[in-house]
Amino acid sequence: MACMRTSPLIAPSLLSADFMRLAEEMRFLEAANADVVHVDVMDGRFTPNITVGLPIVEALRRETKLTIDCHLMIVEPLKFALEFVKAGADWVSVHQEADPHLHRTVTAIKGAGAKAGVVVNPSTPVESLVDVLDCLDFVLVMSVNPGFGGQSFIPGALDKVRRLDALRQKSDTSFFIQVDGGVNSANAQPLVEAGADCLVAGNAIFRAPNPMGALKEIRAAMLKGSARQ
Ligand code: DX5
Ligand code: ZN
Repeated sequence: MACMRTSPLIAPSLLSADFMRLAEEMRFLEAANADVVHVDVMDGRFTPNITVGLPIVEALRRETKLTIDCHLMIVEPLKFALEFVKAGADWVSVHQEADPHLHRTVTAIKGAGAKAGVVVNPSTPVESLVDVLDCLDFVLVMSVNPGFGGQSFIPGALDKVRRLDALRQKSDTSFFIQVDGGVNSANAQPLVEAGADCLVAGNAIFRAPNPMGALKEIRAAMLKGSARQ
């Protein structure tokens, strides 16, 4: 069965939000009709940075009905993945580079009731996932090296999305494709045209002079992209 394409989703990344005002940031995302809130979890080992963990996800879960998407940039992700589902994550993604037992990990995440994704770094080919694609709810293509918000989009990600979309079309799989890093209103349209279903954007939304306007601009570009698919 080919993937059923629906309107592409926008997932603002909390990493660029104001952590002193998370409840207000949730109100903003709800008012802006964001589809998903993307939470970047970094452990200082897989990534050269440390961010947030379970208590923040629990607090967000109490505060919002938005889909909570936890991007785990941590070593040995199965040690914590199910704790994130318990804390309220609806989607949990783990890195291909951090886990030699992806099949076990994604099966466990799905068994706990969340959607399971696998993430590939810019230097990891999407073809490395061929033997696990049929188990996945989604694949996240990194378009920056993980660790920080506000980096520049790596153009090669566009071709990776195209190759992943081709793999999806020729196989009997229905995962969705997410892209994360340096996404903005200029690259959103080509990314969706290439096959992306969900775009993460941090700085381009939260650090814009007019965050609501910026989110709307990215969404408009995504819709243009889906009209041209
Ligand atoms: C980077 C994170 C991203 C980041 C995106 O490691 O995974 O989610 O917050 O931020 P921008 O959109 O600013 O690149
Ligand atoms: Zn992320």
